[in-house]
Amino acid sequence: MALRENFPNEPVKITLPRIYDPRGSLTVVEEQNQIPFDIARVYWIYDVPGGEERGAHSHRKLQQLMMAVSGSLDIEVTDGFTTKVFTLNKPFEGLYLPPGIWRRMFNFSSGSCLLSIVSLPYDEKEYIRDYDEFIENARKRGPIITQE
Ligand code: TYD
Repeated sequence: MALRENFPNEPVKITLPRIYDPRGSLTVVEEQNQIPFDIARVYWIYDVPGGEERGAHSHRKLQQLMMAVSGSLDIEVTDGFTTKVFTLNKPFEGLYLPPGIWRRMFNFSSGSCLLSIVSLPYDEKEYIRDYDEFIENARKRGPIITQE
């Protein structure tokens, strides 16, 4: 059965497999296993100066898993209705983001590295970088994030 059917269609933190070893730990992500999409691209953000922010955009179709493979950072996500902040500070935790989520990454610790595994090749047309356009689309579409 496809993982997609059971996977929440909203931002959710997932705990990835950890393989303990006296020589060190190992964590793994496989497409359609821990994540509900096929992997098209991997990139990472690092050397972020203190106080800087990244993100400030959403995606039309792209799905994503973000991991602080070293250090820590905060990710604020909104669907235009509900806003949540997730802290990533463990190399075996990931934040899954479906399409339609505006995100802002901040509080990067010194030496942090934010790894992203995403479902589509890079395409600037696939981004929404204008917050007003994002809100207009969100109003038409409706909420994604479950309120607690
Ligand atoms: P962007 O996705 O805006 O990074 P962030 O989410 O941190 O704000 O990308 C920053 C710049 O890098 C932008 O000019 C596009 C470019 N870029 C690529 O060329 N290829 C890629 O795969 C990514 C993710 C970004």
